[in-house]
Parts: sequence; structure tokens; C-alpha cells
Amino acid sequence: MPERIPIGSDHAGYDMKAMLADELRSLGYDVEDVGSHSLLPTDYADYAHVVAREIEEGEVTRGVLLCGTGLGMAYAANRHHGVRAAVAWSPEIARLARQHNDANVLVLPSRCVDEGTAREILRTWLNTPFEGGRHVKRINKIELPE
Ligand code: RB5
Repeated sequence: MPERIPIGSDHAGYDMKAMLADELRSLGYDVEDVGSHSLLPTDYADYAHVVAREIEEGEVTRGVLLCGTGLGMAYAANRHHGVRAAVAWSPEIARLARQHNDANVLVLPSRCVDEGTAREILRTWLNTPFEGGRHVKRINKIELPE
């Protein structure tokens, strides 16, 4: 069964979300578009929480979010236990976010990257494994005790 990947954006990320959703489909993923579904102004946190909650509850293992800078989406998604949302503006950041930080949410700053770069960032993030080793204890220290 293909892996389900939820993807969400506000109005600023709407066009790039459609492009990346197509890219994910062409790579064989089962894409769940959680919105926004138009260019009307909307609030990024509404979509970040939907995607992050799915990861927190173990329904999916990773997701993708977009807003203008990537920051609002990352702030909101990172409030959820077990979510490590990384803003990536280059393939290099995406690679390191996977290798060192085991980022399970990719956040793209749609107003700061072009489409070709966004596609490459997405592919890099999808295909780069977590290195484990010395990074495990570091990511374990991110979570606050209950
Ligand atoms: C929307 O104008 C913009 O503020 C939003 O997309 C995002 O950049 C917030 O972090």
C-alpha cells in the first residue's frame, strides 16, 4: 500500500502545495491534501495542527507544510509531541534535517524558494534516511517531560 502523506498550506503556499502534491502523486505516494483549498487569506496554524496531529497520533509517519516563510507552520507543528518540523530552503538543509534531526515534517517557505528548488528539497527530504547514532540522544532531548 502506498504511504499516505498529508500536505497542507495557507494561501501563501497554495500554488506550491498543488505543485508538490502532484509531484508526490507522480512518485507514487497517497497524498492527503488537508487544505487550504483556495487563495483566500487563511490561518496557517489550522493546517499545521491537522498534519502534526496525524503524526502525533501515529496515523502517518511524515507530512509536508507550506506557508510564506515556513515559520508559522513550523511553530504550530512543533507544539505537537513527536513532531520535528524543519523549515528547509535548500536541498542541503533538507538533507541535514533528515540525517541529523530526523525531521518528520518538511516545511517549505513558498515565498522564498522557486518551484524547481522546492521540488528538489522535497525529493531530498523524502529520500534521505536519519543517520541515528550520536543524533538519537540529541533528538530525544528535544521533548519536554510530561
Ligand atoms: C501570510 O501572509 C504569511 O504571514 C504566512 O504565510 C507565513 O509566512 C507565516 O509564517
